[in-house]
Amino acid sequence: MATTQSKSLTTLTSLVVPSLAFLFLFFLFFHDFKQLHDQTLVLPFNQNSSQSSSTTPSMEPPIKTVTKHIEKSSPIKRIEEDLAESRAAIRRAIRTRKFSKSSKKEESFIPRGCVYRNAYAFHQSHKEMLKRFKIWAYKEGEKPLIHGGPTTSIYAIEGHFIDELESEESPFLAHNPDEAHAFFLPISIANILKYIYTPLVTYARDELIRTVTDYIYVVADRYPYWNRTKGADHFLVSCHDWAPDIANENPELYKNLIRVLCNANTSEGFRPLRDASLPEINLMSFELGPPGLGQDPNTRSILGFFAGGSHGSIRKMLLEHWKDKDEEIQVHEYLPKNLNYDKLMEQSKFCLCPSGYEVASPRVVEAIFAGCVPVIVSDFYSLPFSDVLDWSKFSIQIPSKRIPEIKKILKGISQAKYLKMQRRVMEIQRHFQVNRPAKPFDVFHMVLHSVWLRRLNIRLPL
Ligand SMILES: *[C@@H]1O[C@H](CO)[C@@H](O)[C@H](O)[C@H]1NC(C)=O
Ligand SMILES: *[C@@H]1O[C@H](CO)[C@@H](O)[C@H](O)[C@H]1NC(C)=O
Ligand SMILES: *[C@@H]1O[C@H](CO)[C@@H](O)[C@H](O)[C@H]1NC(C)=O
Repeated sequence: MATTQSKSLTTLTSLVVPSLAFLFLFFLFFHDFKQLHDQTLVLPFNQNSSQSSSTTPSMEPPIKTVTKHIEKSSPIKRIEEDLAESRAAIRRAIRTRKFSKSSKKEESFIPRGCVYRNAYAFHQSHKEMLKRFKIWAYKEGEKPLIHGGPTTSIYAIEGHFIDELESEESPFLAHNPDEAHAFFLPISIANILKYIYTPLVTYARDELIRTVTDYIYVVADRYPYWNRTKGADHFLVSCHDWAPDIANENPELYKNLIRVLCNANTSEGFRPLRDASLPEINLMSFELGPPGLGQDPNTRSILGFFAGGSHGSIRKMLLEHWKDKDEEIQVHEYLPKNLNYDKLMEQSKFCLCPSGYEVASPRVVEAIFAGCVPVIVSDFYSLPFSDVLDWSKFSIQIPSKRIPEIKKILKGISQAKYLKMQRRVMEIQRHFQVNRPAKPFDVFHMVLHSVWLRRLNIRLPL
């Protein structure tokens, strides 16, 4: 399969999808655009971005696609015109530095302030998404592996995303695949693990790979959409640690697919320009509570807090250095029964969020919900919504090799700076909130917006 595909690719006119021309969209979110009056893209990305170099996106080769003769008023043409209008509107918002007025008076939230890389671009882009973005979710397959997923515990966001997008009321669902801008593979990798790998007798990825790859072959065979872009306008969403491994045996097949992953490890093949980072959110029950206020930031008594098992090398290092060693940096392996985890987070100024067995940690969202400034202790982690949010404004990022310096680093942050960061944490809570049904600017919309930006970044051959 792989060999015939790549062979046929070379015989086709490989059309350089003008991803260069559209990469500027990402560029917009990363930069202040005062000087960029024309639409030419300045590459490579500015390395002086506030992100650490490990999360700075690198250039991707252009996507190769199949060119086909398509008549003038084709659905593809309509879709591309639609997207071109969105790109122009976003560009305009950046140029004029204005929030365009909404026709509906109920627009309740306008993103403002330094937590956004470019608030005008984001406002317009989110608006364009609400107005136009249509997704076809493939109907093939059956529950529980397809069309469903876990809705509680640490992989919950995977099931909620699939469920929300496929629900009858979803405003984003296309009625017919010809009107879709993007195609969703509603596979739950967490459920594949739960149903096929229980009891766990092997860590071999074969079954997982076969299940996902077979699904792609089925839809690629039945419909023209996958082959049209070699998967570049297709996406899947998974929070499971193993999700990146689906491409192990046939990287060519998965080359263009937009993978929305919790396990966004840039050192293990996560590509920040094409893939999107998904926040891990530990939902204990179906009750989706609103984020709390936590304690007044002026009276928080704990400087830094962590409690959790010794999973993975970073946590091992953290526990070795800090467990039960310091009054101000409270690091516990197992929390004594008389102490309450949520309360302690709410009493802390900074909450340590080290990577576990994989880069993402549910503690990031827990900290945000407790009004506690997240301290992200990780290497190679591409943070969620980094196209839009400037994490340096409301979190501290510490590479694992600086774990011994944690106290010094946190002590070095003035009370004034801490209070500013804490206020910004409160401002971005809405972007991590899980609502069913989803609401504008909540976590579902943010995830979808990541996909929307990546879709805007490619163009189908006309
Ligand atoms: C970017 O970083 C380089 C080296 O780190 C520095 O020389 C240069 O002045 C910086 N540019 C801007 C615009 O900050
Ligand atoms: C898409 O390409 C694959 C591999 O070349 C082929 O098997 C499949 O039939 C094609 N799908 C359609 C709808 O033509
Ligand atoms: C990220 O990937 C690198 C390279 O494979 C690996 O060494 C590291 O442990 C991964 N990070 C986590 C937290 O799993």
